[in-house]
Amino acid sequence: RTQMRGDQVIVVSNREPYMHERGAGGIEIRRPASGLVTAVEPVMRACSGTWIAHGSGSADREVVDRHDHVALPPGHDEYLLRRIWLTPEQEQGYYYGFANEGLWPLCHVAHVRPVFRESDWEHYKRVNRLFADAVVAEARSEDPVILVQDYHFALVPAMVRERLPRATILSFWHIPWPNPESFGICPWRAEILEGMLGSTIMGFHTQFHCKNFMETVDRYLEARIEHEHSTITFHGDPTFVEAYPISIEWPLPEQARTWPSVGQCRSELMERLDIPRDHRIAVGVDRFDYTKGILERLHAVERMLEKYPEWQKRFTFVQVAAPSRGALEEYRLFQQRIAAQVDRINDRFGRPGAPVIRLLAQHHEHDEVTKLYRAADVCLVTSLHDGMNLVCKEFIAARDDERGVLILSRFAGAARELTEALIVNPYHVEETADALFHALTMPPGEQRERMASLRSTVHEFNVYRWAGRMLSDAARLRLRQRVSTRV
Ligand code: G6P
Repeated sequence: RTQMRGDQVIVVSNREPYMHERGAGGIEIRRPASGLVTAVEPVMRACSGTWIAHGSGSADREVVDRHDHVALPPGHDEYLLRRIWLTPEQEQGYYYGFANEGLWPLCHVAHVRPVFRESDWEHYKRVNRLFADAVVAEARSEDPVILVQDYHFALVPAMVRERLPRATILSFWHIPWPNPESFGICPWRAEILEGMLGSTIMGFHTQFHCKNFMETVDRYLEARIEHEHSTITFHGDPTFVEAYPISIEWPLPEQARTWPSVGQCRSELMERLDIPRDHRIAVGVDRFDYTKGILERLHAVERMLEKYPEWQKRFTFVQVAAPSRGALEEYRLFQQRIAAQVDRINDRFGRPGAPVIRLLAQHHEHDEVTKLYRAADVCLVTSLHDGMNLVCKEFIAARDDERGVLILSRFAGAARELTEALIVNPYHVEETADALFHALTMPPGEQRERMASLRSTVHEFNVYRWAGRMLSDAARLRLRQRVSTRV
């Protein structure tokens, strides 16, 4: 907060920090399942300012004032939320089409082929323009600090730069950046890169993504690349490219004090799902997305039960899968495939009334997920590819008893930091099955050692550190800009 004292902060993201939904009891507030929201919301509470996002809750329109600002729910009044409304065609083309059928599979190596439609691209450009206009309308000075979030808004930085040349634009790409050959198949690769280079800072989760980005620019644009300064200069404007590993808010002791005890969480879960008392529990918590490696995880559970039959009557796997992007066929087919695999494995290993896998394909609020993490012996995060992945960090934060084992994919950005987890290649079923067995049989002393070390990493490198580093780099660049314009 001190970094930007007095400067106006504006955040732009597609997903809003909370949605108003019409439920049985009237209008309810829901926090969406999104790593981006998990990370950026506490930062906005600390910085205040305005958050601009797509209004997508079923009751969102009922709670806005005439400037499309939201009537703030209690506990969220540190910042303003401005909602942007899209037509169904715009949402289809920009969000489902170009962002989620084009850029999402383009940037994640999950072997799903991207789809590029000219009409989606037109919508993407138009919606980026709408958001850029909203930023300009919200700006109270010629040099606000603008935080542009994710692959939905690659064009916004350059669009804002045109109108507010002195703005400080910090863009963060929450998903991986692929190598130049992979990115090069996008028909509008140059426009996307030019759009992003309107940023003062372009942030990614890892050095590897930064390197891929710089090589991609080098390949497809006439720009000056200075690797030693991590800077790209395009049309005379510099962009600083840097890795800022994202994280979570570390729970304050008073928050953690309201959590039910681990024992209570465990017995509640066992009761609710009718899990036998002598079972060990592993959990997975994801959006229902093909990049998350849910299918491979199920195969690993199956293989573990086959290879170590002594666990067949003593183990339950609970998978929470929050429905996501369900209007896309790829996602619907994926959900069906998973459900079929769960049935098949339950037929093979479950007993009547005691299935070995529980698939909970619905939205869960944050508190419920925390209880699930606390109830578990093992948490499986086996993404095929993931920018960072915050589920693993939330699991760690929830385990103040220093117990529980994390199994983590080497293809999640988090694997670079969380080296005391059991790191696996999710494509290697045998390896993941063995890691699960190892986790189930790990002595408490070793669990504690690993968990204590993981906890100190996440505690130290929490989301305030992520935002703080980005904002202090921005403050340095801003100062340099002020000095150079005075000369
Ligand atoms: C990823 C993206 C976020 C997105 C989230 C949920 O974490 O990086 O930008 O919000 O997935 O996806 P959704 O499409 O539901 O917003």
